Formats: sequence, C-alpha cells, structure tokens
Amino acid sequence: MAITLAFDVYGTIIDTHGVTVALERHVGERSGEFSRLWREKQLEYSFRRGLMQNYRDFSICTVHALDFACRYYHVSLSEQEKEELMNAYRVLPPFQDVRVGLEEAKDAGFRLFAFSNGKADAVETLLVNSNIRSFFIDVVSVDEIQTFKPNPAVYRHFLKRSGSMGNRAWLISSNPFDVIGAVSAGMRAVWVQRNSDAIFDPWEIEPTIAVKSLAGMAKRIKNKATQPD
Ligand code: LAC
Repeated sequence: MAITLAFDVYGTIIDTHGVTVALERHVGERSGEFSRLWREKQLEYSFRRGLMQNYRDFSICTVHALDFACRYYHVSLSEQEKEELMNAYRVLPPFQDVRVGLEEAKDAGFRLFAFSNGKADAVETLLVNSNIRSFFIDVVSVDEIQTFKPNPAVYRHFLKRSGSMGNRAWLISSNPFDVIGAVSAGMRAVWVQRNSDAIFDPWEIEPTIAVKSLAGMAKRIKNKATQPD
C-alpha cells in the first residue's frame, strides 16, 4: 500500500506571517508581534470552539482573533481595512522549500493530500494561488465534520477520506500540537522545524521524525517507513 501524506496547510505549506507586509501600514514595526498574536489567538479560538462544541468555520476564528489583536495593540481598523487584511490572508504565500518538497514526495510515489482546519474553498484558493494545487489528490477539511484539530476525530476522518491506514499515513506539520494530535490518534508524523528556535512541546509524545525543511523529507520518510517499528 502506497504511503499517504497529509500536509497541514497554515504554517506548514503556507506562511501565515506573510501578512506582516499588509499589517505594516497599520501597526508599523509591531507587525511581526501583531501577526504572532493574531495567529496564536486564531488557534486558541479553534481549540476552544472544538472543546465547547460550538463550531464556526476557521475564517471566523481568524477574524475574531484579528479583532482581539487590534484591541490588544489599540489599533482601530475600518471595516474596509479589516476586509483588506482578511483578503491578504486568503492569498498568503507558500514557504520557499514547498515546491521542491512536493516534487520529491510525488516522485517517491506518495499520495499527497492537503489537510487543514481551513474550509476547503479557502485552502483551494491558497493552493491555486501558490501554483501547487496539482500536487494534491484532494483537500480534506475539518469543516466536513465540524470540529478542529487536534480532536482525534479529525485524524480518523482524514484516514477514512483518503482511504489510508494509520501506520501508512503521515501528517506533515510545523505545528507541534498537530503532530502530537496525529501521533496520539495513531498516525505517523513529521515535525517540520524550519526555525531552530521553534520548540516541540515536551510531552511524552514525539514526532516520528523531525526535519528542517520539506526538501529532503521524502527520502527520510521512505527510510523510516522501511524500518521495523
Ligand atoms: C491548519 C492549521 C493547523 O492548516 O493551521 O490546519
């Protein structure tokens, strides 16, 4: 059975901090920290909505997190300026190593899927805009079961939708909470640590492998997959 890869989207394929340029106009040199708080709150809101079983789609978590960051930094945006920032979020850029990593994974005979908290149409737009949509068999969104990562149900849903088994399905993610969620739900997982300062949560659950770039990752997966557990 071929190996299946589930690529996380925001933060792994697509650089959420690509929005800092659009933010500079509003918050100047604080755009980096503003963008980090926006992203942290977006994830926190998805975790909380999942736990509360009060699902609204990921773009709502994003817009509420933007409102929070504006209040925190005492920035007042008009509806139109907010809309412009949300539009920038819909066309965020991919990381530099993505295309080569996808090419190598495809050449290795792996089955590639995008797997995201984002709604399918938002993810499709990002992938098409980055010119990488054709690498993926399909987009699997948590929206299909109306909850968020790291609920184990979303990883089970991925396996079902992609027709794969946990020991032959790998999550590829830069987000430690996602890696831990996938491994805990019986998948294998690669942690993509592009930045050497990034910290993996010190739990008892480790990534199956860690890489510094998507370039060279396919070979590492192939080697690991042929080793006994
Ligand atoms: C995603 C979140 C984790 O794309 O950023 O699923």
